[in-house]
Amino acid sequence: MSDLPGKVLFSEDTLSERIAELGQSICSHYGDKPITVIGLMNGSLFFMADLLRHLPVTTRLECWRVSSYLGQRSTGKIQGLDSHQGDYRGRNVLIIDDILDTGLTLAEVKRTLQAGQASDIEICVLLRKLGTLIHPIEAKWIGFEIPDQFVIGYGLDLDHQYRTLPMIRLLDKDN
Ligand code: XMP
Repeated sequence: MSDLPGKVLFSEDTLSERIAELGQSICSHYGDKPITVIGLMNGSLFFMADLLRHLPVTTRLECWRVSSYLGQRSTGKIQGLDSHQGDYRGRNVLIIDDILDTGLTLAEVKRTLQAGQASDIEICVLLRKLGTLIHPIEAKWIGFEIPDQFVIGYGLDLDHQYRTLPMIRLLDKDN
């Protein structure tokens, strides 16, 4: 593991402690209400799976495959939303994503759910980059705030590598 790029930002233990706290907070917010969780793939795969273990048994699950990144940069366009234009009337939707960066992805996903008339839409992200937000969107639940540098591991990839690392690593600016 010593050949891995960058340095450890959040260990496996730190991630699991924080995710348990997020789960508790989400449960107390919704109480008995059923939730529809929409996990944005592939980045939120591990976070979503670990967080779901703390949520009520009535939780419904959908996985949406959307992407905007190429290498370490946002392309400014979201791909994959066309296949998710459904009817969400009466549903309390919780969107789960790995990281809130410019906000483009979550703003577009929220717009799609508003068009589907979801009753309530909230957002939970594991990470939020500081100083990068461009689109007007905020997450109700945030695991950790991080500097504006590229991160890998625990679902986050760099050109399809490093996604399966159990921890999150921060790359140096020149990686
Ligand atoms: P936006 O700009 O739409 O970005 O808020 C959100 C999506 O971009 C990807 N992203 C990253 N992926 N390391 C990654 O592996 C990063 O540092 C990073 N920053 C943004 C991610 O897919 C996220 O859902």
